[in-house]
Amino acid sequence: MKTMDETTKKTLTDLLNRPLSIGGKTVANRLWLAPMAGLGHVAYREVLNSYGGCGLTFTEMCSAKGVPTEKPSVSPMFRWREEELDHLVCQIFGATPEEMAPAARRIEDEGFFGVDINMGCSVSGIVKRNAGAALLKNPDAALAAVKSVRKAVSIPVFVKFRTGWTPDVGPAVKLARQFEAEGVDCLVFHPRVAPDKRTKPPIIDHIRAITEAVSIPVFGNGDIVTPEDCLNMLETTGCAGVSVGRMAIARPWLFAEWTTGYTPTETCFRDYAFQLADTLDQYFEPVRALKRFKLFTIYFAANFTYGHSLQSKFLGAKNMDDIRNVIRNHIKTDMRLTKRPNMNIYSI
Ligand SMILES: Cc1cc2nc3c(=O)[nH]c(=O)nc-3n(C[C@H](O)[C@H](O)[C@H](O)COP(=O)(O)O)c2cc1C
Repeated sequence: MKTMDETTKKTLTDLLNRPLSIGGKTVANRLWLAPMAGLGHVAYREVLNSYGGCGLTFTEMCSAKGVPTEKPSVSPMFRWREEELDHLVCQIFGATPEEMAPAARRIEDEGFFGVDINMGCSVSGIVKRNAGAALLKNPDAALAAVKSVRKAVSIPVFVKFRTGWTPDVGPAVKLARQFEAEGVDCLVFHPRVAPDKRTKPPIIDHIRAITEAVSIPVFGNGDIVTPEDCLNMLETTGCAGVSVGRMAIARPWLFAEWTTGYTPTETCFRDYAFQLADTLDQYFEPVRALKRFKLFTIYFAANFTYGHSLQSKFLGAKNMDDIRNVIRNHIKTDMRLTKRPNMNIYSI
């Protein structure tokens, strides 16, 4: 596996390992897991934690309407391990203060590090409910949501948002300032317009525009694959840190690699796939475990030159035993890795 050159490694490690204060709480480093529905579940986070190196993790988006009455023992999304709460932020999506405030209160009562408001998701089911990126079309509603959450809790409040619905970053800059004025503690910014489902490259200059507009920490997000990408985002935008999504699913050890100098083992891909399968089985009933493993294979398979063929083998699995057979028979130590993930697989 290609490792980063020593200078990049040292500069990146130094930049990432600067502790950061968010709303009065300290975070050990500046490389975080982005929230991802169907991928960033409790099982994945347990596997991720076994490598170490990740400053903050985020849950999958949870419905604000559901959170106040959700049962963590059976809920697929609103679920965690006690020992991760001190570095786990719960993300919620919703449209109104009446939905958001009680959800935020429950999140504080459960002991999460913080609460994150989703203003980035542009999936039609979410946008139709006036939640996620729909809030960016309606700044009054976005600010009302933020105000209600801020008033409801004293834990750190995060907003994850995008450029908006048009390419001009001006409205996002204005909103960022308003979020800060309303008491938001940290922003995570993904510089793409809302209808763009990660096909066009993110405009990282827009992260700089947001960073320069506010004095709270701004984390950059989007298309980080290599340590060089991460260093480039930090250095060219002045962002406080970086939030990594899909690549964290492809290679969960990257946090430890970039922050502690961890070197992945020869059998890392195979071991990871087995570990995730076992952990999914431990937390979820068989149908959901299988569905979640199959979603993971999109990003996992994108590591490999012949990723399509590996993925189709996984997709043919009828149960988790079939999944284990595919891992056993087809994940070898000599598989050719792609330099950047195979975008035909990965841009979903
Ligand atoms: C399958 C999938 C699910 C996602 N779910 C969420 C989500 O629940 N909340 C959210 O704010 N962003 C979500 N995102 C967006 C990611 O957090 C991130 O912004 C995006 O993937 C770009 O970062 P990356 O290039 O590092 O993956 C999701 C992305 C993917 C691929």
